[in-house]
Amino acid sequence: MLEIEELSVGYRSGKKMIHALGPINLKITPGDIYALIGPSGCGKSTFLHVLSGITKDYQGKVTLKGEGLDPKKQDIGFIPQNFGLLPWKNVQKNCRLSLKIKKQNIDPLLAERMDYIMDKLNIRSLQDRYPRELSGGQKQRVAIARAFIMNPDLLLMDEPFSALDALTREEAQELFIDIWNQYKTTTLFVTHSIEEAIYMGKKIVIMSHCPGTVVEIIDNPLFNTENLRENEEYLKLSTHLRNVVKKGWKI
Ligand SMILES: Nc1ncnc2c1ncn2[C@@H]1O[C@H](COP(=O)(O)OP(=O)(O)O)[C@@H](O)[C@H]1O
Ligand SMILES: [Mg+2]
Repeated sequence: MLEIEELSVGYRSGKKMIHALGPINLKITPGDIYALIGPSGCGKSTFLHVLSGITKDYQGKVTLKGEGLDPKKQDIGFIPQNFGLLPWKNVQKNCRLSLKIKKQNIDPLLAERMDYIMDKLNIRSLQDRYPRELSGGQKQRVAIARAFIMNPDLLLMDEPFSALDALTREEAQELFIDIWNQYKTTTLFVTHSIEEAIYMGKKIVIMSHCPGTVVEIIDNPLFNTENLRENEEYLKLSTHLRNVVKKGWKI
């Protein structure tokens, strides 16, 4: 369980403090995928930066499995918007990065897991390539592989599919859900796409305008539904989401 209590973040701008996020109160249950949606600038990236340990300057309490957030103790995977691959390492080395950092040996079980993930994402043949030699979709698949190979307690993704064209994005979303179904990694991802939130979020968290707070949490009945747009309930749910997100806009 990830528990967030009264989380607030401010940024210093000269002598002024800008209140960028919160207060956020949220409980993330293990083995679920949460989609976080809200207006631009409401603090979604800031929120992920706190949870991933990048931002340490915050108020409130965040605990993962009952312990205070500490990226050294807990395995937290983070896929940033630009995928976060190291340009000087090839695909294989990028995928094994977390294992290297943790000095983890590759036993037969882990080797099997790595093969499974790389096969599923169809990147085995790309192992020797460098990020600059990959398309956007391929980079995305490598980033997803790296995150699942790490087997994190919590996986965070910041608009992970937004840089991809429509067809590649749909393929990447399907592949992600496919692998996620195998490992059920607790995941929180940010999106600005209502369709993506409904397709990929088991729970959908809607945030208000800046400083973002949680406006509504929806148990999504349409998670992982094929031909989503043709589903009768889709129009109803997407209209509701759009209206709530709009209300959060500061006009
Ligand atoms: N490093 C920073 N310094 C000052 N202000 C920031 C910084 N990063 C973000 N902000 C401000 O904090 C607010 C939330 O930003 P962000 O978390 O990036 O929003 P989102 O990801 O929802 O678009 C915005 O008003 C943004 O301008
Ligand atoms: Mg952002």
